Amino acid sequence: MTASLSTPRSDESSNAAVEQRTIGVGLISVGWMGKLHSRAYRNLPTFYPDLGIQPRLVVAADTAPQAQDYAVNVLGFEQAVADYREVLANPEVEVVSICAPNFLHAELGIAAAKAGKHIWIEKPVGRGAHETAEIRDAVVEAGVASAIGFNYRQPPAIQYARNLINEGKLGRITNVRGRFFGGFNADPNFPLAWRFIREYAGSGVLGDLMGHLVDLTHFLLGPIGSITASTGTYITERPAMKGSPDEGKLLPVENEDYANMLLKFDESALAAGALGSLEASWIALGPQAEYSIEIFGTEGSLRWNFERLNELEVAFRDENGAANYTRLFANPTFPDFARFQPSTGTSMGYDDLKIIEASKFLRAVTGDDSESSNIHDALASAQVLTAAEESAKTGQWVDTPVVPGNTSNTRKEA
Ligand SMILES: NC(=O)c1ccc[n+]([C@@H]2O[C@H](COP(=O)([O-])OP(=O)(O)OC[C@H]3O[C@@H](n4cnc5c(N)ncnc54)[C@H](O)[C@@H]3O)[C@@H](O)[C@H]2O)c1
Repeated sequence: MTASLSTPRSDESSNAAVEQRTIGVGLISVGWMGKLHSRAYRNLPTFYPDLGIQPRLVVAADTAPQAQDYAVNVLGFEQAVADYREVLANPEVEVVSICAPNFLHAELGIAAAKAGKHIWIEKPVGRGAHETAEIRDAVVEAGVASAIGFNYRQPPAIQYARNLINEGKLGRITNVRGRFFGGFNADPNFPLAWRFIREYAGSGVLGDLMGHLVDLTHFLLGPIGSITASTGTYITERPAMKGSPDEGKLLPVENEDYANMLLKFDESALAAGALGSLEASWIALGPQAEYSIEIFGTEGSLRWNFERLNELEVAFRDENGAANYTRLFANPTFPDFARFQPSTGTSMGYDDLKIIEASKFLRAVTGDDSESSNIHDALASAQVLTAAEESAKTGQWVDTPVVPGNTSNTRKEA
């Protein structure tokens, strides 16, 4: 189980002519994620030429005029508008990226599905399980494809880890330990943006980081069956936003900045019988984006950390019964890696994860067999987060029934 030397694989970067299909793209909100989705669409054909998909950036909507300018002059959209309804009414738009603040996701997601548009929507999809279920219902009723911004599923090292787990290389899974620790909200002088207000964000770090970690756990090990959780808010006040009527005042933070949970897997999960603990913080001093997961089994273990996304550490029992971690560099034998780089040790980055995500979404749109996350995965994650909020109030374990249609890692016979 050593990192292979770098032999470029020509099959993944074939120059053979492929029939091209143009897909009209609409974007709602041109912030961090909107720009990232747009770059992913633009770059997709160069990394996945064999898909024959040419995204066409038709129209972007943002209420901020400077974001509209950016969409046209920098990202290359043909048109930018203030009102998202113009995106949904445009017959040349086939897929819509929903990259707005959380409180708009339900309105936008439901309207997009009703307009017959396939949606790639950022997480958290709804403000809790109830709202996410409403979007799921609209997507199912409309019969449109969906993909969720669960980008931590996409690193080649994570996909490789999933293959190792599925091949039984870790033996029986005993436990998982995950922690998504960021320090991006650790400064108490950082203003009270929408993310700290329940009406606009829903939960705090639960929806923001724990949702990713729950999805990653589902993706690698299968559905979580029950949890107990605690949450805390340690920066309880923040300065009002500049230009707001309350500028100069300190206002209350309305959601949690730290959360933890203990979990048991559902009996259908690949890791049925295993236990785990997950933590998330967006006020952790020290870690930058220390989004990590460790999985332990009777024959081996593995661990991964987003700060070193091109590396996977594995430990397997040797003939003497000993096991030590070995560091594997992502390489062209890892899923999707050869699309980006022909050589081990040449790093991929965050933008590349979104290109992989786009490729899976657009494959789902064109009806090809796809490994895309979907709206059912969003509900599965949201359900665990809502259970965590309930458990944090009551101190009880809460069951999280399996959501049909999700793509979590189940036992073959389940
Ligand atoms: N997948 C990830 O890892 C990840 C990372 C960051 C953010 N996100 C999610 O992406 C979403 C957006 O976050 P962001 O960081 O890009 O936000 P952002 O603050 O950078 O951008 C939000 C944009 O929405 C625009 N907007 C506000 N109201 C609007 C309206 N009515 N119509 C159209 N546009 C409107 C704003 O003008 C702004 O340009 C959030 O749900 C967030 O949780 C996901």
